[in-house]
Amino acid sequence: MTRQLSRADRLIHQFDTVLRTLVPHAAQPERPSPAGSIADEPMTEAEREHAEGLMRINHTGEVCAQALYQGQGLTAKLPDTREQMEQAAQEEIDHLAWCDARLQELHGHTSVLNPMFYAASFGLGAVAGAVGDRVSLGFVAATEEQVGRHLDAHLRELPVADRRSRAVLEKMREDEAHHERWALEAGGTRFPTPVKLGMRLVSKVMTNSVYRF
Ligand SMILES: [Fe+2]
Ligand SMILES: [Fe+2]
Repeated sequence: MTRQLSRADRLIHQFDTVLRTLVPHAAQPERPSPAGSIADEPMTEAEREHAEGLMRINHTGEVCAQALYQGQGLTAKLPDTREQMEQAAQEEIDHLAWCDARLQELHGHTSVLNPMFYAASFGLGAVAGAVGDRVSLGFVAATEEQVGRHLDAHLRELPVADRRSRAVLEKMREDEAHHERWALEAGGTRFPTPVKLGMRLVSKVMTNSVYRF
């Protein structure tokens, strides 16, 4: 009976996370947005549009992170590191909510492609988790490395006036570096360069499509 209940509980929790990830403005952060009371400088329409596109990419990246952690949570054993993984997943919810809020401020919308990227990332996470914990953690580390590279590029590309987005991305950058370190220290495999290059190619497709849609 207990076992059935806990399985039902897990299913409800999973479904709840899917909804909170995919329904705009549904994610509730545990930490306040780093944008806080920072004031923006005036932006031109072209600058606002560019900032919107970049923040939409970052939002979708967090949708993928959420799906990845969820997919792995389903199949990975992670006897010693599950708690840390759940902590990281919670921090990704903060990122998701902060990006969502910033997109709203920029009068932008989240990507219509999010459900597709969610499903793909969930599947990849579940496969990695099923292969083994070292691969699963290695996948987290490689993904976080990739996300870090994106964030660095976006921090360079953001309009100087967009100080609120910058504050959000800087805090995210710090958290993602911490996730990457944790996944490697927990025993994650370092992925070979060709695999990382493949991941970079996939993320290029994602960023190009999500910037506009
Ligand atoms: Fe994140
Ligand atoms: Fe992360």
